[in-house]
Amino acid sequence: MKILKTPKEAIEFRKSLKGSVGFVPTMGALHQGHLELIKKAREENDNVIVSIFVNPTQFLPGEDLDKYPRKLEADFEICKRAGVDAVFTPNAENMYSEDEILIKAPKVKGYILEGFFRAGHFDGVLQVVNKLFNITKPTRAYFGKKDAQQLYLINQMVKNFFFDIEIIPVDTIREKDGLALSSRNVYLSPKERKRALSISKALKKAAKLSSKTNDINEIKQEMLKILDVDELQYIAFVDREFNYIDKIIPGNTIILIAAFVGSTRLIDNIWI
Ligand code: PAJ
Repeated sequence: MKILKTPKEAIEFRKSLKGSVGFVPTMGALHQGHLELIKKAREENDNVIVSIFVNPTQFLPGEDLDKYPRKLEADFEICKRAGVDAVFTPNAENMYSEDEILIKAPKVKGYILEGFFRAGHFDGVLQVVNKLFNITKPTRAYFGKKDAQQLYLINQMVKNFFFDIEIIPVDTIREKDGLALSSRNVYLSPKERKRALSISKALKKAAKLSSKTNDINEIKQEMLKILDVDELQYIAFVDREFNYIDKIIPGNTIILIAAFVGSTRLIDNIWI
């Protein structure tokens, strides 16, 4: 497995490849969720590139950029075992220059929900994914439904900028008890982890109820009874294009939650 440290090395490596390229962008501290994306990429492509880059421009001031878990050696091992051909691990200095051209997330869908509570976050995500796509020129790129709004916006960027890349969505991987896997789960104390479980439980309950009723208020009330978090930022009901909806549309609904448990911010969602 090749370790590529600079965009230049990665571009050279990409040029040497024959056949299709599956690309999995990550910020590292890899877990089973990431691995699922990598496995799918491995199955569907001749070559697989994973990037590991804790992208500073998608963190807001005061967020966890400095304490974000970094486990590069363990990540390399995971990638090697999964049959990855190359891992691209650039640093901020060679990914960014001063006063550069900036990409703006769409005014509405880039600034609601996650984009409202983390204003500018998606500008940074799209900026870095744009660079990563240009460097790795993938045939297919793999993104988790766990970050549903991110997945939607990446699809939108591919359309708007005419990238010739197929975006492959991957289902959310959960612990046995339902907790969605996240690199940030390591921040949770055992007590907090128990309370964090209320998020996936509330979503599961919502999914169950939505087979009986399309009344969003009724479902929301039941979710609120289950949730045991310190600060609920949103419970939202949108369609697959991230338009707010006022009734459940079977086959075209995403229910999303963002909440703090202790000082850890968690997001999760369920597709109905
Ligand atoms: P990161 O949080 O490391 O996630 C990398 C990819 O793994 C994303 O597509 C995310 O949706 C997916 N993922 C995370 N947890 C998952 C789970 N439990 N099940 C399935 N997929 C999961 O998302 C980012 O990094 C960054 O914003 C990035 C796209 C790399 C740009 O910097």
